Amino acid sequence: MLDLRHYVRDIPDYPKPGILFRDITPMLAAPAALRGAVEAMAEPFLDHKIDIVASAEARGFIFAAPLAIRLGAGFVPIRKPGKLPFDLHSFAYELEYGSDELQIHVDGIKPGQRVLIVDDLLATGGTMEACCRLLEQCDAEIVGCSFLIHLVQLGGEARLNPYLVHSVLRYD
Ligand code: PRP
Ligand code: ADE
Repeated sequence: MLDLRHYVRDIPDYPKPGILFRDITPMLAAPAALRGAVEAMAEPFLDHKIDIVASAEARGFIFAAPLAIRLGAGFVPIRKPGKLPFDLHSFAYELEYGSDELQIHVDGIKPGQRVLIVDDLLATGGTMEACCRLLEQCDAEIVGCSFLIHLVQLGGEARLNPYLVHSVLRYD
C-alpha cells in the first residue's frame, strides 16, 4: 500500500524562520502518489451528488480539477483580485500578517448547487473560511471541504464549523 506521507518533503524555516513547510511537489511528480491523493480526497464524497468543486488558487487548483472529473462535477475557480473578468462576489480576510481578498464570479454557482471545496492544505483556516463565505454569498449548498494535508495544531478546523472537513494526511 502506497504511503502518501513519503511523498511530502519537510522544509524547515520556509518561507520564514519557524515555519515548517510541507512541500507536496514530490507527490505531484509521482504518478501513483498523485492518483492516490486525488482518490483519497474524493472518496468520502463519491455518493454526495456534488455539482461543483470550488477551489482557491494556486495549489488548490492542482487537486480540484481532477477531483471534479472524478466526482462527475464542474470546477469553479476562486481567485485573487484582478484575475476574474465578470461580475464578482468578494471577501476580504485577515492573514497572520496583513490581509488578502478572494473573489468568485456571481454566476459561478447557481443557488442550491451542491459544492465541495478543495485545497491542498489546511493551516489557520483563513483561506478556506473565505471560500466558505464566498459560496454562502452564492447561496451554494456547501457539502464539505476536502484537503490533502491538515496541520492540526493551527486550529483551522474550528473556523470551518459547521461544515464537514475531510483530510487525507494529518500532522499533529
Ligand atoms: C496555502 C495553501 C492553502 C493555504 C492554507 O496557499 O495552498 O490555500 O496556504 O493556509 P491557511 O489555512 O492558513 O489559510 P498560499 O496562500 O501559500 O498560496 P498558493 O496556493 O498560491 O501557494
Ligand atoms: N500553507 C500554509 N502553511 C503551510 C505549510 N506549513 N506548508 C505548506 N503550505 C502551507
